[in-house]
Amino acid sequence: MAKPFLSVERLTQKFPDGAGGALTVFENATFGVEKGEFVCILGHSGCGKSTIMNVLAGLAEPTTGGVIMDGTEVSGPSLDRGVVFQNYSLLPWLSALKNVTFGVRARYQDWSKTKVEKHAKEFLAMVGLEGDVVYRKPSQLSGGMRQRVSIARAFANHPKLLLLDEPFGALDALTRGTIQEELLKIWGKTEQTVFMITHDIDEAILLADRILLMTNGPFARVAESVEITIPRPRNRTEIVEHPNYYAIRNHLVQFLGQHSKDLAGQENSGENNAPETVRIDMTQEAPEEEDASPHLRAVND
Ligand SMILES: Nc1ncnc2c1ncn2[C@@H]1O[C@H](COP(=O)(O)OP(=O)(O)OP(=O)(O)O)[C@@H](O)[C@H]1O
Ligand SMILES: [Mg+2]
Repeated sequence: MAKPFLSVERLTQKFPDGAGGALTVFENATFGVEKGEFVCILGHSGCGKSTIMNVLAGLAEPTTGGVIMDGTEVSGPSLDRGVVFQNYSLLPWLSALKNVTFGVRARYQDWSKTKVEKHAKEFLAMVGLEGDVVYRKPSQLSGGMRQRVSIARAFANHPKLLLLDEPFGALDALTRGTIQEELLKIWGKTEQTVFMITHDIDEAILLADRILLMTNGPFARVAESVEITIPRPRNRTEIVEHPNYYAIRNHLVQFLGQHSKDLAGQENSGENNAPETVRIDMTQEAPEEEDASPHLRAVND
């Protein structure tokens, strides 16, 4: 079978445990992401999600294992991979606009200054930042606005892979909802591949094509790949009406509440460590339910 666009192969990360020994955070974590896919990863605090993301970004090296993206082994950071961190990480001395043009200029060195600015402004507008606000420095922006700038900056560079580490963790629910929808819109337009860490189950169901579930550490691994069988376009208010929504949600809650613990601490040989695919689709069972419904309608006036 052909390799997926992003192939994470038997990643193992050990750190010193502070007491002279070694802590194996995750072992033989293996999964793939297809081109254009939006994949979220869920797992308890400390299971190693950010560490995996740092390896994907090329900012850290795993103890063993490797990552292949588009046929090439990932080693060191690259403009092909854009990262959005939880703490915004904008350059504080530059305006919102210059934070975006900075990367675009590095990426497209033959573009004129006007073209770079026009491009950056388009991406800022996609996340709702237009007019004078783009000339403000990060300290003059709200937390939600800063996060919008980070997202615009990452997408504007057209990276082959976009890595988001809990990008909305620090935002209030209303702002979070708005930016989630902006993220979906911008992703829909650019067809980029996105890998995102979140702690929020509802956010993951809204955004993802697939959710990867990690067991608790030590010796964590990616145990399941849950398909989100809810058609797009999705929006926050309508998605909960879909027959698959609560079935998927309950499965995720069960995993995080129970299975992630039951599976924790087991050493993995790594021979067949790809996650189990889980597909929940209640819409397939709908006709049978309809057959049964005349019983319920038997009483009328
Ligand atoms: N540089 C390091 N040196 C030693 N231990 C580390 C280092 N980086 C991470 N760890 C340990 O590795 C484990 C996984 O950390 P990581 O930040 O990847 O977790 P996470 O899944 O992202 O958690 P959270 O959901 O809280 O962000 C933790 O036990 C952490 O203490
Ligand atoms: Mg983390």
